Amino acid sequence: MTPIISTASRLGNVEEYYFSTKLKQIARLRAEGKNVLNLGIGSPDLPPSEATIDALLESARRSDSHAYQSYQGIPELRRAFADWYWQYFGVRLNPDHEILPLIGSKEGIMHISMSYLEAGDEVLVPNPGYPTYRSVSLLTGATVRDYDLIEARHWQPDLDALAAQDLSKVKIMWVNYPNMPTGAQADKGFFKDLIAFAKQQQILIVNDNPYTFILNENPMSLLDIPGAMDVALELNSLSKAHNMAGWRVGMLAGAAEYLEPVVRFKSNMDSGMFKPIQVAAVKALQNPPSWYEGLNDIYRARRKEVFKLLDLLECNYDSAQVGMFVWAKIPDYYADGYSLSDAILDATQVFITPGGIFGTQGNGYVRVSLCSEAKVFQEATTRIASYKALQPFS
Ligand SMILES: Cc1ncc(COP(=O)(O)O)c(C=O)c1O
Repeated sequence: MTPIISTASRLGNVEEYYFSTKLKQIARLRAEGKNVLNLGIGSPDLPPSEATIDALLESARRSDSHAYQSYQGIPELRRAFADWYWQYFGVRLNPDHEILPLIGSKEGIMHISMSYLEAGDEVLVPNPGYPTYRSVSLLTGATVRDYDLIEARHWQPDLDALAAQDLSKVKIMWVNYPNMPTGAQADKGFFKDLIAFAKQQQILIVNDNPYTFILNENPMSLLDIPGAMDVALELNSLSKAHNMAGWRVGMLAGAAEYLEPVVRFKSNMDSGMFKPIQVAAVKALQNPPSWYEGLNDIYRARRKEVFKLLDLLECNYDSAQVGMFVWAKIPDYYADGYSLSDAILDATQVFITPGGIFGTQGNGYVRVSLCSEAKVFQEATTRIASYKALQPFS
């Protein structure tokens, strides 16, 4: 049927999310009886801590847990986020005004954008980068300006080159360290330069920080930099390092003056988060440091298997990268990551994410998620080895 009602023009600016389309294709292949190994999407396959699940169940059984909740989250959750930021990043936040719990950090990207951007504004977006920064900016009517991340600069932007351009219309710059998809970590010197740049250019920097505890020896917050609260916000999430992606719990931290407009927008979008989820999130944030160590032992063992798979595919990678993925440069005989991904999916039913979905600077790369058991990577490696034996790659 051709619908007789047209959609809003803003929707014409964005396409369906790549993974939404890809998962449909994988489901179709599975329905045809093909055993597809999906090494693409970063959705943790492990459970949250027992204490987290117990807290959810206990709270869900209470008769006073089911009402609408505050737009700013329960005070216990804001306090738990504040304690977590102090314990791990040495950042003091006022739980009453400087923390906003979110239904996942992805919705925070939308709320921040809707609160600050409109047609005529410009937004600096990393290329490669998490696709939502771009699509959400476009939905607001703002103009996206890519800034390139390249391997030779350790996937950090060239701030001097940016400062030499006319940035007078730029309102927001999205940054994401530890970086997805490249696995690059920032250092304090870069964060200091970033805050100085933001002050000079009068740009709001938003650091998206969901991977900070995964395979990363040095968790950092941009808000730890002196003066950061004047020009920066930070998003964080329980999706990745607490295995709670489907629960939808994230947070936004920053100065009360920057958060207030976001609360105003958000309070018109949703009516608070289910209380048992918030109560359980408090428990998750109170997991002992050994929680992260245990998780990282698992990811480290998986990553070894992924390195073997990438060696077989003749890809190059930085073995010191951090986060929940491995980012790897493809060999020259593939035109781009899409060709590698399509060829491997077609021949072996192993799905690997092409780096180009994160922007043109990712074209020569692929990304493998660590969210599968080691035996899945071993099976993928066996399949690819058999295929390679029949048909050498180069
Ligand atoms: C860089 C980055 N930011 C944000 C998100 C969204 O996280 P959440 O589950 O908290 O919405 C993701 C999820 O894949 C991500 O990779």
